[in-house]
Amino acid sequence: MQDDPDSATSLSQPEGNGSRRGRSPAVHVGGVVKRFGSTTALAGVDLEVPEGMVFGLLGPNGAGKTTLIRILATLLEPDAGRVELLGHDVVTESASVRELLALTGQFAAVDELLTGRENLEMFGRLFRLSRAQARRRASELLERFELADAADRTAKTYSGGMRRRLDLASSLLTQPRVLFLDEPTTGLDPRSRNEIWAIVRDLRREGTTILSRGGGSARGRDRRDRPRPRDRRRDRQRAQRPCRRPDPRGRAD
Ligand SMILES: Nc1ncnc2c1ncn2[C@@H]1O[C@H](COP(=O)(O)OP(=O)(O)OP(=O)(O)O)[C@@H](O)[C@H]1O
Ligand SMILES: [Mg+2]
Repeated sequence: MQDDPDSATSLSQPEGNGSRRGRSPAVHVGGVVKRFGSTTALAGVDLEVPEGMVFGLLGPNGAGKTTLIRILATLLEPDAGRVELLGHDVVTESASVRELLALTGQFAAVDELLTGRENLEMFGRLFRLSRAQARRRASELLERFELADAADRTAKTYSGGMRRRLDLASSLLTQPRVLFLDEPTTGLDPRSRNEIWAIVRDLRREGTTILSRGGGSARGRDRRDRPRPRDRRRDRQRAQRPCRRPDPRGRAD
């Protein structure tokens, strides 16, 4: 992420991870640089997300959030730095990493001509579930995402919120340990947005680690939120300032 002081901030939502010390973090990002021609999308980003956390990446358009998520999801290689998912290097162990994660992109990727159920069964088969497993998992997810009544209608008749729920459901067919959400609530009204974040909080309670572009509803935020990932240039700028704003937690970091 770049020089803009707001461009490299994010919001973490720690909950129930105190007993997990000593294990590999869900996500480790160390000194990651990514350039596209003359554009530096990521300028030395460090980030560590323990398992079982919801971690929201915040920043203005173009700050590098999608780039970081794509690197973590093995879709893009960093130019420098190290990135690990649950202790596996995303570049050299990309096949293992892919088994552990799911990604929901910035725009819903459902097939409009298929029904909700058919969409989920198709994704289940793509994720190598047997026909019976795909059918069973699709039914469970349709219930869970309150799409059971609309399950046999084509997705083109779904509202934006229903499409997003279906898209998120399709990420969960294989019960990933780490879920990347890139703006899962784009274009949704506040109610649908809150529904999506409620599902995300449920997933966290079940132990899924979630790295999300966007911080969730205010109600869902944890008071212990703190800015991350750290941008080295920003850290240097901060260190040079004569005084800093008080830490809201009442202690220096
Ligand atoms: N494939 C690419 N080719 C060239 N430049 C790219 C590419 N992908 C991203 N960029 C550039 O890298 C920078 C970071 O882009 P990125 O999409 O990661 O930002 P973002 O934080 O996700 O933005 P938004 O909030 O708009 O989704 C931008 O300047 C963008 O133009
Ligand atoms: Mg983006």
